[in-house]
Amino acid sequence: MQRAREWLREARCVAALTGAGISAESGVPTFRGAGGLWRQFRPEDLATPEAFARDPRLVWEWYDWRRGLIAATEPNAGHLALAELERRCGRFTLVTQNVDGLHDRAGSREVLKVHGDIWEVRCTGCGRAGRDDRVPLPDLPPRCDCGALLRPGVVWFGEMLPQEVWRRAECAAREAEVFLVIGTAAVVYPAAGLVDRAKAAGAKVIEINLDATPYSEEVDCSLRGRAGELLPQLIA
Ligand code: APR
Repeated sequence: MQRAREWLREARCVAALTGAGISAESGVPTFRGAGGLWRQFRPEDLATPEAFARDPRLVWEWYDWRRGLIAATEPNAGHLALAELERRCGRFTLVTQNVDGLHDRAGSREVLKVHGDIWEVRCTGCGRAGRDDRVPLPDLPPRCDCGALLRPGVVWFGEMLPQEVWRRAECAAREAEVFLVIGTAAVVYPAAGLVDRAKAAGAKVIEINLDATPYSEEVDCSLRGRAGELLPQLIA
């Protein structure tokens, strides 16, 4: 922890990649961890264009349920610590796989949402996109004024990541002197690949995670524990 603090203090350019684990202490279930409530809905089965085409109502019932759950949560000390780090660091870029919006609510200003945003909806017909944070949604599946189905503004398995957001995320990983990887099982690509890019570019990589991940042996410092406890200590 001491070494990690020193690297962070000396770094002019820092980037962070977060996953579901940083929102776990707010009460948002993870996908693969022990407490994951989504367990009965394997994301690989529902978060796909095929599942939506087959049964848009079922997919929307899952997202509407998640939106309701997320709306009842607050950012935790881990989210707040990253917002504080952004205020202190010369250059800090936050890349998140999370779609819950808790980093924004914690005060982080620049959040690269590489898997989209659960509060965004997009028309499958006319393509119009916008924020809709009603919980619960009045009708499932919701429809656009043009009559076509609306879909959640999230990236599903097999879909491209938002290109401009991804380009900025890759750039941040390459330029970071310190790269924090927080609360992610690091098994979903290309997001997990940002760790390799940061390492290849010579960054000090610090992992904060409750369990071991495929990167735990490779990072420069692996802190095992809760993000809500370790992040405030790291930036203290
Ligand atoms: N503090 C730190 N880490 C935690 C905590 C916590 N309080 N609670 C759980 N974790 C860790 C778990 O040990 C696990 O390694 O967070 C990780 C969460 O992993 P996943 O549930 O797989 O979430 P994530 O890695 O973000 O999933 C990536 O997969 O389903 C898709 O698109 C979805 O963005 C998601 C992507």
